[in-house]
Amino acid sequence: MDSTTGDLKNHWNAELYDSKHSFVSELAANLVELLSPKPKERILDLGCGTGHLTHKIATKGAEVIGIDSAPTMIEQARKNYPQLDFDVVDARNLPFLEEFDSVFSNAVLHWIKEAEEVVVGINKALKPGGRFVAEFGGKGNVKAIVTALYNALHKAGYPPDATFNPWYFPSISDYGSLLEKHGLQLTFATLVERLTPLEDGEQGIQNWLKMFANSFFNGLSTEVQTSILADIKNQLRPVLYKNDTWFADYKRIRVIAIKL
Ligand code: BEZ
Repeated sequence: MDSTTGDLKNHWNAELYDSKHSFVSELAANLVELLSPKPKERILDLGCGTGHLTHKIATKGAEVIGIDSAPTMIEQARKNYPQLDFDVVDARNLPFLEEFDSVFSNAVLHWIKEAEEVVVGINKALKPGGRFVAEFGGKGNVKAIVTALYNALHKAGYPPDATFNPWYFPSISDYGSLLEKHGLQLTFATLVERLTPLEDGEQGIQNWLKMFANSFFNGLSTEVQTSILADIKNQLRPVLYKNDTWFADYKRIRVIAIKL
């Protein structure tokens, strides 16, 4: 975001993602431990972004392929790790058939409202007995931010419009039922609050909104965006700003499921 104009328009800017949102992959480092990749295992990293966790998995000796629907992310992933295999693939239409010992996914499934199509594809991609290990936003994720965003839009004369909300934040029970409906047996599930510090001091919350919530601002003039942003900051400062740092009120689901 240009902090002087408050312009919030952005679409999967891989450079911004790597420079200001590295916490996304850093926080998930222990998700790779939950995956526990073994040498020679074939692993699909679904929604690999700029490839940092794909690389971490590869360092364990696994044969990993990273996929993402955003060509900009794959381009950056290939630059970051030219020795690894990356491809542009839509998670709603996975083309793999019983190829993988594991499907891994961090911080991407909350972007895909067609969750059932994704689960069907994951089940198809796994070998029998293979595992699905994932983390993503669960029920109540970024609730304070979303509430402030809707309030500010409403006050500026833009009533709530669910079509602008790009996120899928299911409960554990809903997501577990979906997995089991499609032949994936849930063996582990948690929903945890994770207040997450954002980089860049005072700019932290607007960087986050630019990167992740830009669909709410499409079509609004720069002036309107600037005033909505100021309103959001006023509402959130007492709850999400401490010691010169903004926080995001993440609430994350972690699941492990086994293909029957
Ligand atoms: C998350 O990582 O939980 C998240 C990221 C962007 C928007 C909403 C949630």
